[in-house]
Amino acid sequence: MKFKALASTFVLVGTALIAPGAFAIPASPDAPTKTIVNLRAAYAGETSARAKYAAYALSADNAGYREVAQLFRAVCRAEMAHAQNHRLALALLGVTDPKAGTYTGTPGTTKHNLTDALKGESYERDTMYPLMIQQAKAEGQADAERAMTFALSAERQHAVLYTAALKNLNKKPAPEGFYVCPVCGATYTTHNVPAVSPVCGTPKSQFNLVK
Ligand SMILES: [Fe+2]
Ligand SMILES: [Fe+2]
Repeated sequence: MKFKALASTFVLVGTALIAPGAFAIPASPDAPTKTIVNLRAAYAGETSARAKYAAYALSADNAGYREVAQLFRAVCRAEMAHAQNHRLALALLGVTDPKAGTYTGTPGTTKHNLTDALKGESYERDTMYPLMIQQAKAEGQADAERAMTFALSAERQHAVLYTAALKNLNKKPAPEGFYVCPVCGATYTTHNVPAVSPVCGTPKSQFNLVK
């Protein structure tokens, strides 16, 4: 029986025949996968973090914390790279209308803002991205997994940099700027910038020096 043979080889999904093992989770916006839901949330999170850090940078500048202002601007640049990567991963899944986040709050003292920023980065590092990466992996979504892994790696650095900035707040270190990889968002002080991003392989010559 020709059909019987076919039926044992293929699974009927809607009107499409898909070979078992090659089954792809539908990426329709009508029935979003966990990966799509997560990418939308991550895009909103990265864009709102970017807006918030921009406000925190201005506030730090006004309070005379130039080095902290540079750090907030550098992390802004990194979050922009993450948002772009998430947007691209969504576009590859057929989603072209992700909603950007905003910041409508009022910055507090620089110490308060750094503490708040550290809390956000720690959540993304310890909870949000590890779970999203696990779910993207389970759904076989390699592009999303890559975008999220880039972000996770940079959020780890951001948490370290914010922790150091809090510790050195009263020392007011010399403002030398930070290097940011425009591809993965890796963020470095001028003293420890590598020749090549260990995360995505982009050479230092393409990094942005953010002051
Ligand atoms: Fe980020
Ligand atoms: Fe971050």
